[in-house]
Amino acid sequence: MSKKTTISVIKCDVGSLAGHHTVPKPLLDIGEKYLKKAQESKLINSHYVFHAGDDLELLMVHTRGESNRDVHKLAWDIFQEAAKKAKDLKLYGAGQDILKTAFSGNIRGMGPGVAEMEIEERGSDPIVVFAADKTEPGAFNYPMFRIFADPTSTAGLVIDANMIGGFKFEVFDTVENKKVVLKCPDEMYELIALIGTPGRNVVSRVWRARDDLICAATSTTRLALIAGKYVGKDDPVSIVRAQHGLPALGEVLVPFMHSYFVEGWMRGSHWGPLMPVGLKNSKCTAFDGPPRIVALGFQVAHGKIASDDDGAPMISDLFDDPAFDLARREAVEYAAALRRMGEFEPARLSAEVMEYTTLPKVLEKLKARFKPA
Ligand code: F6R
Ligand code: MG
Ligand code: MG
Repeated sequence: MSKKTTISVIKCDVGSLAGHHTVPKPLLDIGEKYLKKAQESKLINSHYVFHAGDDLELLMVHTRGESNRDVHKLAWDIFQEAAKKAKDLKLYGAGQDILKTAFSGNIRGMGPGVAEMEIEERGSDPIVVFAADKTEPGAFNYPMFRIFADPTSTAGLVIDANMIGGFKFEVFDTVENKKVVLKCPDEMYELIALIGTPGRNVVSRVWRARDDLICAATSTTRLALIAGKYVGKDDPVSIVRAQHGLPALGEVLVPFMHSYFVEGWMRGSHWGPLMPVGLKNSKCTAFDGPPRIVALGFQVAHGKIASDDDGAPMISDLFDDPAFDLARREAVEYAAALRRMGEFEPARLSAEVMEYTTLPKVLEKLKARFKPA
């Protein structure tokens, strides 16, 4: 066991109540029951179970490092058990993201999404976990850029000497399975050139340039590429570290004061406005959306989530706040404008992206009817 602390967020769509919109209590209870046991047996030190739309989210803090077989197996077993329950209850899409049958040591590449970060705890270590539904990992590209590279958003890039050296971004090309590291501000234009294509290039990690301190980690699953067919979007999770020479909590959150557009929404086939919401509104309804994001803030202390006197982890539901009302209203307005366009681009995703959806099957039967023009 290492002296470092690991934050693991592992998520899976195991089935939903009434369509693809929310995770009902019996499934959350399974997550809670198993993680409580794992905490008692000291496999993990802290946990928090929540959901982002139809995705069951397991937040675990431990000292076993990233890609730990036992921690991944724990998440895998929970998802199996929850999918079984979902099947018994005839919930919708039961077991949807479980793409492989046998666990082979690491949950990556088996369907569930994973964001993990091993840190050496600083004097005080504020953490934000983001989880979004009805979108994909590239949805974090724009806010990651604003948080760690845009001096018009993060004041600290200009007025905190500890950040003047900038940040390094790892960009993962999900199609060719390659990655590259770019340093900002020096290579900011090249970074934007890459991550402006969020459907393909995903910001997977961020470090502070002057000392390589890890600052952010995002899930990079591409379900369609694992399964070879459309199986729903890869609803993403991300872990961001804040304060004391890193962007302040408020600088991490300020990009979400406005809604912005992400790929996903209905049938994973549309551009939709991302709506920041508190956990009570973490459900995807209108046109299976609009795509939603929740943010949880906590402190990591002595290998755990800092807890209250009763031992309950202290978690702040960051978007449950009127400061994000404008973004929510914008999201509803943008959503209505896009839906007026129906299935015409740019409301619907581009033809190239639709190759990974169910559309090709519809067009198949027209093939023989095309004649040379
Ligand atoms: C998107 C999503 C939903 C479904 C839609 C159709 O990720 O999960 O928008 O694509 O509800 O679902 P089926 O084909 O299961 O009826
Ligand atoms: Mg689903
Ligand atoms: Mg989902």
